[in-house]
Amino acid sequence: MGNVIDGKGFADRLSEQLRVEVDALKANHNLTPCIAVVLVGDDPASHVYVTNKVKRCQQLGIESREHRLPVDTSAEALLALIDNLNHDAGVHGILVQLPLPKHLDENAVINTIVPEKDVDGFTLLNTGALAVGQSRLVPCTPLGSLMLLKDQLGDLSGLNAVVVGRSNIVGKPMASLLLQENCTVTIAHSRTRDLPAVCRQADILVAAVGRPRFIQGDWIKPGATVIDVGINRIEEEGRKRLVGDVDFASAIEVAGAITPVPGGVGPMTIACLMYNTVAAAKAAHGITD
Ligand code: GUN
Repeated sequence: MGNVIDGKGFADRLSEQLRVEVDALKANHNLTPCIAVVLVGDDPASHVYVTNKVKRCQQLGIESREHRLPVDTSAEALLALIDNLNHDAGVHGILVQLPLPKHLDENAVINTIVPEKDVDGFTLLNTGALAVGQSRLVPCTPLGSLMLLKDQLGDLSGLNAVVVGRSNIVGKPMASLLLQENCTVTIAHSRTRDLPAVCRQADILVAAVGRPRFIQGDWIKPGATVIDVGINRIEEEGRKRLVGDVDFASAIEVAGAITPVPGGVGPMTIACLMYNTVAAAKAAHGITD
């Protein structure tokens, strides 16, 4: 029986460290880290995510400015808002919640954010910097997943890592981070042949496919460390439930360690957003300690 990785506990400890650091920034540098969160439209899950992010900011003493915009917001209006936030010296981080309504070009919107304030790490510059090993602001979910892996395993050098999913938000940056840690990295996806056999090679298996309980216990190498990035809302026996991309019940029988859903990677994503916001604020003021 594998170990359940306590992502929530790790995220709480990281958040507490950040709270102490934010206090010190206020006291010693008169600096309050500030993030602007932009949400367009009325996707219920996005509203929940944004509310959770804002709450966590309050707990840590980080200032947050919410911009909840109607679904028919024009591209011009959204880009003008981002331009204002780019030029506002009191704002250190800008997050545009995805997905955006269909009439808006996500790439164009994201790439309007100046890289120094791109706390999601989604702009072309930050994406490219990560790909060539000069990482600056790194996407929050992969960063949080890597922190859990290093806490669990220590040095990751030479381990076989399989990332299932090739999204720009998780799969690709996760692969870059693991490569930087000297793992042998495979990115698997919907066209991969014999996915179970590929997964069985993994000492580290990262599941980021967005399909509930897709990865089965018998796809997992005995003793492997499994990071489940999935957050799938399903209805089962008349009850709404949150489940991951891994079939937890069968996986924990085989894995050495596995993140649960909820309480695994999810809390780390928010904690790393706070981490990136503090980092961006410090960088904007030339604070290096
Ligand atoms: N939507 C789902 N995940 C994310 C994320 O990490 N950042 C943003 N901005 N939107 C998301």
